Amino acid sequence: MLYSKIIGTGSYLPEKVLTNDDMSKLVDTNDEWITTRTGIKQRHIAAEDEYTSDLGAKAAIDAIQSAGLLPENIDLIILATTTPDNTFPSTAAKIQAKIKAFNSTAFDVQAVCSGFIYALTVADSFIKAGNAKTVLVIGAETMSRVIDWTDRSTCVLFGDGAGAVILQASNQDESSKPSGILSTIIKTDGRYYDALKTNSGPSMGNEKSYLQMSGKEVFKIATSKMPEVSLEAIKKANLSPSDVNWLVPHQANVRIIDAALKKISIPAENTAMTISEHANTSAASIPLAFDNFIKNNKIKHGDVILMTAMGAGFTWGSVVLRY
Ligand code: ACO
Repeated sequence: MLYSKIIGTGSYLPEKVLTNDDMSKLVDTNDEWITTRTGIKQRHIAAEDEYTSDLGAKAAIDAIQSAGLLPENIDLIILATTTPDNTFPSTAAKIQAKIKAFNSTAFDVQAVCSGFIYALTVADSFIKAGNAKTVLVIGAETMSRVIDWTDRSTCVLFGDGAGAVILQASNQDESSKPSGILSTIIKTDGRYYDALKTNSGPSMGNEKSYLQMSGKEVFKIATSKMPEVSLEAIKKANLSPSDVNWLVPHQANVRIIDAALKKISIPAENTAMTISEHANTSAASIPLAFDNFIKNNKIKHGDVILMTAMGAGFTWGSVVLRY
């Protein structure tokens, strides 16, 4: 049977860092409030001339090198982003040109913070259908560009960054603990459209759009939907929660993650946490955390990984894989 095996990972974080103390000079906030409510200590912010495509291209090159491949070996690029460089063309097309992966088809996937889970699901479907062999999946965001920097209730939560993985088609025997993606589930409920959104967009005609959020509603739904879909995905992979070695959750808020891991019965020490250094990087947060824990020798080959996210839409989903 065909599996989508992860053969490389990469990441990139912009140089500039804003600590909570730095934030307290911009808005009426403080380190204690931000840390206790969210777990965030700092966030990376893209330079003025640095765009989502720049972050994504750097993470992509890192992943391609870690897989021991060349850009021309990639036949599909899927970029998860909610902060594209331009409304069109796709930022994936720009990344394809930047990294010179000219044998690939490239497109964007928009599912906000769940974007990486959606993109992995699409990539896995392409591989299983025999329509792609080597897929570069990127999550890249410049959330700092869609934040209202005068709104203390949202501007402290987000950061910029990019992460990437390379998936490759691999024929393996189902009965022999295959490595690769074992199950994916993605869901949407558009009735929550207004709970987390930008105030405007291209079709609405306004030039500049900012993030708006009903924090309490997001909190309530995230703490119920992420565990629910995770347990479903574990079951779909014919595993149980005790088989999971690492939870790699979307890094939105430490309290959301704590509530979720308790409901899935995964110990906190088996959870990849990078929120204190990265803040919420939307679609980039899972691949950033995943790459960080691999490069720090915490996640090892053979480990069973559960990834889960929830984002605007609402969208949510989980992926179970053996690394
Ligand atoms: N610094 C200091 N005080 C603040 C700040 C701040 N940065 N932001 C808000 N406050 C104040 C509010 O004005 C309010 O003051 P008041 O009581 O005088 O009116 C008080 O703190 C409490 O505000 P709440 O909004 O009720 O705070 P809450 O406890 O709900 O925490 C938070 C807010 C952290 C956003 C929480 O709702 C949450 O975690 N929601 C989840 C949202 C999230 O993580 N979103 C990320 C994007 S979505 C995603 O990725 C899934």
